[in-house]
Amino acid sequence: MHVFKMRIKTQGSIKKTQLLCAFVLEDSNKITGLPKFDTKTSSSINQSLKDMRGKLGKLTIIPISGKKQAQRILLAGIGKKENLTNDTIRFVSGKIAQKARELQLKEFSIIIPPTFVSDSISSISQIIEGSKMSLYKFEKFKTEKTNKSPDLTIIVSKSDKISKAVKVAEAVAEGAIFTKSIANLPPNECTPTTLANFAKDISKKNKMKCTIISQPELKKKGFGGITAVGKGSKNEPKLIVMEHNHGSKTQKPIVLVGKAVTFDTGGISLKPGQGMDEMKFDKCGGCTVLGIMKSVSELKLPINVVGIIPSVENMPGGEAYRPGDIIKMYNGKTAEILNTDAEGRLILADALAYGEKQYTPKAIIDFATLTGACIIALGNNVAAIVSNNEQLTKKITNSSKTTTEEIWELPLTQDYMDMIKSDVADIKNVGIGRAAGTITAAAFLKSAIKDTPWVHVDIAGVAWTQGAATKEKPYNPKGATGFGVRLILDYLQKL
Ligand code: BES
Ligand code: ZN
Ligand code: ZN
Repeated sequence: MHVFKMRIKTQGSIKKTQLLCAFVLEDSNKITGLPKFDTKTSSSINQSLKDMRGKLGKLTIIPISGKKQAQRILLAGIGKKENLTNDTIRFVSGKIAQKARELQLKEFSIIIPPTFVSDSISSISQIIEGSKMSLYKFEKFKTEKTNKSPDLTIIVSKSDKISKAVKVAEAVAEGAIFTKSIANLPPNECTPTTLANFAKDISKKNKMKCTIISQPELKKKGFGGITAVGKGSKNEPKLIVMEHNHGSKTQKPIVLVGKAVTFDTGGISLKPGQGMDEMKFDKCGGCTVLGIMKSVSELKLPINVVGIIPSVENMPGGEAYRPGDIIKMYNGKTAEILNTDAEGRLILADALAYGEKQYTPKAIIDFATLTGACIIALGNNVAAIVSNNEQLTKKITNSSKTTTEEIWELPLTQDYMDMIKSDVADIKNVGIGRAAGTITAAAFLKSAIKDTPWVHVDIAGVAWTQGAATKEKPYNPKGATGFGVRLILDYLQKL
């Protein structure tokens, strides 16, 4: 993977940097944090400031001659003060970092913005997340790689108390990058076994307990959903379980569940060919959980967290499950299969029931690229959430405001539960026609758990960039976005 080093320095100690970057508000006539330059240099900086006017996302570079603290100054517009959002510094830092790489620099420095823009701890997180994530590029399979990523120095006014914030922000950004890097893998290079190996790797490095449940045992233990979906592929299903135990023994854990269909052909209810390649991203929920577990364990958060990833490949092989089949799920309920392309809810329901039974958790949160209907409802910039608990929903919504991973709640009343009742089994794996597809899928998940507080996050629209419908952000270059990693890490840190 690419290299990126981070340093923190205080204002007085700027020695020599190839690019010194400062954020400027729209129509502002001063720049905070720049060192003193001679009159000539200062007047050319002021002229550039007048020209660029601090428009959001605008970058202006001013070459500096002579032996100065910086070879160039970069002024980065952050727009009007009243329009500043939580994402502004992340967004603009990403642009700056990509500019520095384009210029083939070895390093660049960013002056932390004034506190009326963002408090210094948030600024640091946003600069690190924005620039780190923007410098990630999926080029494992490219013979020629882009330039090495430049190192970043953040210039702060006082350096006390921020080293922890730096450590956290780096681990968070690295978690998201890790998620992207495995989610981007092609389906021939990433099977359930590959994901299990990634889980083993991070668990070994960070001392987590890691259990992989394989095919014969899955069948024996009654994971009817995972077994049914996995049957059509030569690549056998796996149930991946990671345990981070850094809380007290009596503290109930948070259970995170993620759908990891390494490729979703639809099975016997085969999907159309157009765009089917994108179904390599049907493992994104599981990759999100892997990324979160990596960061949680690296940061040694003082809590108990369990990550559960049901992983299968949904293929139409000779032994594939069929529409019409009736299967018995892990919780004992029977399910009628009406569409083999509605496979995610089957493997998730097993994993949710297992998580609840095995760990009696404080809360369960699941991530899944579950329904195309979610994209119809909310598009590609907002994820759907469905929950059985207001308090938990509030907390996740709060974190979403901090991390700018946007979510919107859909209702789940008894009427929707009724829509998945089957004539021949307890429940069926599709609702009534296409109506409320995201909610009826969530209804299936809800039927798998008893009363544990639960939030389901449908990331079908947001887990990877989907053309022009996805809002362009420098920290989300083409491909997987790592949606959910920063969100849940924020929630877990606030516990
Ligand atoms: N993985 C898909 C959902 C999906 C589709 C995610 C497009 C992202 C983009 C899921 O397994 C699926 O195929 N769901 C079906 C359910 C239907 C058959 C009830 C869908 O959404 O069409
Ligand atoms: Zn499907
Ligand atoms: Zn799927």
